[in-house]
Amino acid sequence: MPEIAVARYVFGTAFEREEERLTLGERLWDPGTIARLDALGVGPGKRCLEVGAGRGSIAAWMAGRGAAVTAVDIDTSRLNRLRALGVAVCESDISVGEVPEQTYDLVHARLVVQHVGDRAAAVRRMVAMLRPGGHLVLEDTDTASLFSTADGPLQPAVKAAAYAVMIDSGYHARCGLLDVELALAAGLHDVRAEGRAEVVAGGTPEGRWFALWLEHLRPAMVAADGVSDVDIDGAVADLADPGRRWLSQVMVTVTGRKDG
Ligand SMILES: C[S@@+](CC[C@H](N)C(=O)[O-])C[C@H]1O[C@@H](n2cnc3c(N)ncnc32)[C@H](O)[C@@H]1O
Repeated sequence: MPEIAVARYVFGTAFEREEERLTLGERLWDPGTIARLDALGVGPGKRCLEVGAGRGSIAAWMAGRGAAVTAVDIDTSRLNRLRALGVAVCESDISVGEVPEQTYDLVHARLVVQHVGDRAAAVRRMVAMLRPGGHLVLEDTDTASLFSTADGPLQPAVKAAAYAVMIDSGYHARCGLLDVELALAAGLHDVRAEGRAEVVAGGTPEGRWFALWLEHLRPAMVAADGVSDVDIDGAVADLADPGRRWLSQVMVTVTGRKDG
């Protein structure tokens, strides 16, 4: 599939519960991310860049470990609390402008590359910011497993309609797998990739992340005529049902080292 040059961040629209949605996503994915970053030795003396920091839980964790941290995002309105932790907060787009070359020991981006238009260029720019010997860690999803249950797929039409809206904005549904190719093409060494999926129960905070995903996309899904409000209400009700369990997306973590 050809890359597009410009993407419009699909969640960059007004949604009053976006802060809550980001918080729930952190709750779901942070334990696995932290375990992987911990293994790379985040701590005093390390310079770390968190790209597309969102609400900033990973940048805060890095700072808590004693690393010198910079957090960038196209929208830094949710990152102010990081300044009190000594984190440098910078409003910028990973796709444009000058980048500070050979600066960081670790660059991490979770759920970001999948939304960017020119993904290959964004990854090259992240690699340029690494010091020789530094690590790039990309985390993006593969959507194939989402909403699988023991009894078959949950709400397949609603899932398809939600991803249709996202893809229309430049999102890549298999980006976790694509990241491996992007890391190799950018010249990284020792590239490793693995995936993790969570089993999520209805009615839990983690389950609510998926419901708020649908609520955020609801207006665009209905406008696209893919599904109706009633269809989305049915899916949200399923996700609130404690009797249901489903598989999340697979979060693919790709780690590579810059030569030197
Ligand atoms: C799905 S959220 C993930 C937030 C955080 N990384 C996490 O995993 O909790 C994607 C974040 O990337 C930011 N973002 C999207 N496109 C970006 C770009 N081109 N450059 C920098 N940040 C971007 C969004 O503003 C948003 O905060």
